[in-house]
Amino acid sequence: MELAKKLVFVLNGQKTQVDLSQIHPATTLLSYLRCHTQYKGAKLGCGEGGCGACVVHLSKYNTDTKETEEFSISSCLTLLGSIDGCSITTSEGLGNCRDGHHAIHKRVSGFHASQCGYCTPGWCMSLYGALRQAEAKGKHDHRQGFSKFSVLEAEKAIAGNLCRCTGYRPIADVCKSFAGDVDLEDLGLNTFWKKNEVPDPNKLPEYNSIGLSTNSKFCRKSCEDSIRPTLNFSYKDEFSGEERVWIRPSSLDDILGALEKAVKENVEPKLVVGNTSAGIYKNIEPKVFIDISNISELQVIRRHDSEIEVGAAVTISKLIEALEDTNAIADDVLDNGKVIPTRNLVFEGIANHLKKVASGYIRNTASIGGNIIMAKKFSFDSDVATILLGINASVKIIISERTESLLTMEEFLDKTCLDSGTLLLSVYIPYWNEIRNPVEDSGINGNSDICENLLFKTYRAAPRPLGNAVSYVNAACLAQIYPSRRQGNLVAKSLRLAFGAFGVRHAIRATSVEEFLVDRAISPAILLEAIEMLKLHVIPVEGTRKSAYRQSVAVGFLFDFLSPLVKEVVPPRIIDSVQVNNSQNGNTPNCGKWPCKPKSITAGKQTMEFHHEYNPVGQPSPKVAAELQASGEAVFVDDIPSPDNCLYGAFVYSKKALALIKKVGVKDAFQSPSVVSYITFTDIPKQGRNIGLDGFFGEDILLAEETVECFGQPIGLMVADTWHDAKRAADKVTIDYDCETLGPPILSVEDAVAKNSFYQVPGWMAPKPIGDLAKGMSEADIRIESAEVRMGSQYYFYLETQTVLAIPDEDECMTVYSACQSPDIIQKTIAKCLGIPIHNVRVITRRVGGGFGGKACRSVPAQLQSVDLSAQTYWVPDSSASQYLNYGAAATEVEVDLLSGATTIIQTDIIYDCGRSLNPAVDLGQIEGAFVQGVGFFMTEEHVVDKNGKLVSDGTWTYKVPTIDTIPQKFNVELLNSPLHQARILSSKASGEPPLLLASSVHCAIREAIRAARKELATNNNKHFRMDSPATMDVIKSLCGLDSIELYLKSLSISSKQ
Ligand SMILES: Cc1cc2nc3c(=O)[nH]c(=O)nc-3n(C[C@H](O)[C@H](O)[C@H](O)COP(=O)(O)OP(=O)(O)OC[C@H]3O[C@@H](n4cnc5c(N)ncnc54)[C@H](O)[C@@H]3O)c2cc1C
Ligand code: FES
Ligand code: FES
Repeated sequence: MELAKKLVFVLNGQKTQVDLSQIHPATTLLSYLRCHTQYKGAKLGCGEGGCGACVVHLSKYNTDTKETEEFSISSCLTLLGSIDGCSITTSEGLGNCRDGHHAIHKRVSGFHASQCGYCTPGWCMSLYGALRQAEAKGKHDHRQGFSKFSVLEAEKAIAGNLCRCTGYRPIADVCKSFAGDVDLEDLGLNTFWKKNEVPDPNKLPEYNSIGLSTNSKFCRKSCEDSIRPTLNFSYKDEFSGEERVWIRPSSLDDILGALEKAVKENVEPKLVVGNTSAGIYKNIEPKVFIDISNISELQVIRRHDSEIEVGAAVTISKLIEALEDTNAIADDVLDNGKVIPTRNLVFEGIANHLKKVASGYIRNTASIGGNIIMAKKFSFDSDVATILLGINASVKIIISERTESLLTMEEFLDKTCLDSGTLLLSVYIPYWNEIRNPVEDSGINGNSDICENLLFKTYRAAPRPLGNAVSYVNAACLAQIYPSRRQGNLVAKSLRLAFGAFGVRHAIRATSVEEFLVDRAISPAILLEAIEMLKLHVIPVEGTRKSAYRQSVAVGFLFDFLSPLVKEVVPPRIIDSVQVNNSQNGNTPNCGKWPCKPKSITAGKQTMEFHHEYNPVGQPSPKVAAELQASGEAVFVDDIPSPDNCLYGAFVYSKKALALIKKVGVKDAFQSPSVVSYITFTDIPKQGRNIGLDGFFGEDILLAEETVECFGQPIGLMVADTWHDAKRAADKVTIDYDCETLGPPILSVEDAVAKNSFYQVPGWMAPKPIGDLAKGMSEADIRIESAEVRMGSQYYFYLETQTVLAIPDEDECMTVYSACQSPDIIQKTIAKCLGIPIHNVRVITRRVGGGFGGKACRSVPAQLQSVDLSAQTYWVPDSSASQYLNYGAAATEVEVDLLSGATTIIQTDIIYDCGRSLNPAVDLGQIEGAFVQGVGFFMTEEHVVDKNGKLVSDGTWTYKVPTIDTIPQKFNVELLNSPLHQARILSSKASGEPPLLLASSVHCAIREAIRAARKELATNNNKHFRMDSPATMDVIKSLCGLDSIELYLKSLSISSKQ
């Protein structure tokens, strides 16, 4: 067969061809889009599948079903080789300035749903994917001008997209505005209808459900052509000097052949389906990529008599769909005429659980097989493996010499040894139907006709209920139960209890607990005994974080599962975020008709007054360029096309917190011809100085000299022809440190106090004492003699990381495009560093992808200049103008789940003094955004540093900012207009940062919930307790008592004996 020379796909309607000799097989779609096309709408945020900034839409022809499939994908993980023959649409492709913007873009603007805009194109594409999906498969009636999805489905469509600015409520409104069951009255402040006006759907930018062409003709043609099956190419890796090979086999046989070759050559191949594992295991550099995503045998979903066969390359999304379809078909008739009863509780449970795995744009490409292999090979904390173990699934694999083996999940996880030639073929999911069966209960008159019921529940406790949060512990519990006349109880005839992710090599079954409980009436005492046995199974390996918490949550899961079988126990009510298997877990009932009153995740009311005195100032005006931000046309620094011969820099960072630098080795880094230079402090011009920041707290150096003073301090800058090469070269630099001479680093506040090591606070920032402190204390009625409060640090977590483009100009001038929010500091610092006059440095900052003060220290206009705001107003701020004089209050109601420690924010009401708001839409967005950032600070964002001073929580896997499912379910904000303030611009006040502190109301509410729980559980008589920030799930559960269930059961056993 002739080999293809080009990779062909459609990009925003245009056929695009890429010369295969130019592609490194590890090139991602995102990197191709950003580096080689004009489309910059897909952004690089995390690069690990965890933020959604890079989401694009993919259309692909399925040669088996002869249909074009469409879904959203993360372009930062999808490999370019995988999209041959597909059609890709970015946000610019949905609409743009020239052709007109899409309804999604227009509604983003109208609902004030974009602030910095860096996240916006990504979630527009997630929403678009959900709209397309609903068109193709929507279960509900069509309502003219609206989508077939429900409000709840609309919100869930963007569950995995992070936004650090808006607080999500307005984004949710955009999504809901498309939903067929939306009540327009529920939508928040917008420009389409006035406050107090009856909302008119015709005023919303028109949504044409037929929408965009998916280029299905192109996809079909290119797949039916002979081009696709022969896409093999190789590329010489410059660093290693080795070939990197991409193979796309056209049959199972070809895959096995390719695997055999790899084994013979002692190469570990990467079998590529979604390539999402690259977001987790970033340092693996495969030499051979085998694309197995298009092989029919690996794509099957086949219903057999007693099980469903699922090909290993089937995606998680497709499996969910298949399980739901199986449930939806009444009396499903198999090929052989046999009838499967409807509503399989197990399928329903699995599907609901899988919907909480990763996020939509990951599930759309992530395969079942890839997940299980990761669980087995890399001990990944998989939900899928735990569930499959719980339901007694089996897998078929092909090992060396083409031997097929059918293994139970247990055998696969426990006993099998996978070599690089192993191929996972398929997974078999058994039917577990409720059956009206005579089961033996020999207690009364031998056999009796008793209905045998299934009890099936799956669980996951994770830092976030939806959207990219791997479980602390997960479980799948299955019991066949029957009412025993002899024992007067419901009794388990058989049991399977699987637990995973708790710090264990792979999911396990609690077999001794299963055996102990079978055919036994379960009393509180028996359950307690079972729990003690479970604790011997659920033992996290040494070094697992939060290990006591994880064990305690596993106990909670077992307790919850078995409580219906224990007469004395009032069944606990686990909130949605934890219990996922319940068929009423918040999903819209599948009734097909509107309205079937949906349960929305978010709702909110905004109360405010508008001032007309300075029209249009005072009106809720949409953000300038919001549509451009949504369509991805807005240009951020990294979107600026690189000039010819542009060089890229990547820092070499210290891997020690305090040390002398003995030697730096750069030989390996220069292996690639692309690497141009390594810059250290010695390269700073003689007339300049080693200065990297001239900020609040004085100056900071740019590059370490003889010593490093913190983990991650920049030591040098590696310069290469491409960013990837610079980065790889930087990773290859070796550094010898002397860690003895300077002694141990200071890593805590306590250490710093003990060693008298303090930052000097500038005089103007130092708090001024008010009144006589000593006198006040001596006269106080109540004195706190000794108390300690601990607060964590918080990342700004701007989605756009620091980027800069510097262009040297004539006469020692430098033009700098900066993503920093304080151009003045950049200008000053660069001038000092290079030893040139400040006016030789021109800094351009058009927009910043999030800043929050992290990209700024001081602002020029408030401090240095007078600002001419309009023809009528000339205003000279004094120093007091930069002080916040804001007042606000918040009340929050939360629900805390005692079994897992998860918190749901039921409602928050904020009243906030904005003075005379210049633009109430902006102020509202600032208040909501800051509050939600505060929710992260007080609830979810753990800033963890290890004992060597290395930051552990350094990405989306470990640092959890709020997502749409974390924010208050009801989020009401009132803007208070306090009277005229002479010293403020048109009597307005700042709204950007202070509302963050109002999120302490969430912390306070959690504390009260814990107090109530401690009282009720009587687990701890001490009513005073210390609760640090953030109040994460483990902190909460610990304060309620990690042994609360055991204590509760003991109290029941005692009372039943009395
Ligand atoms: C952001 C994010 C969040 C996630 N959250 C969760 C979560 O909450 N719960 C959870 O369970 N999972 C989660 N995952 C894991 C996700 O489900 C897996 O990454 C995915 O299923 C892997 O499938 P893939 O097709 O992308 O595999 P790939 O990345 O293509 O391959 C993964 C590995 O499996 C091997 N492989 C693939 N197919 C086969 C086969 N048929 N035979 C032999 N080897 C094979 C490959 O060689 C490779 O080593 C998350 C992933 C991401 C990126
Ligand atoms: S950049 Fe792809 S998900 Fe974050
Ligand atoms: S608008 Fe979402 S990150 Fe800034």
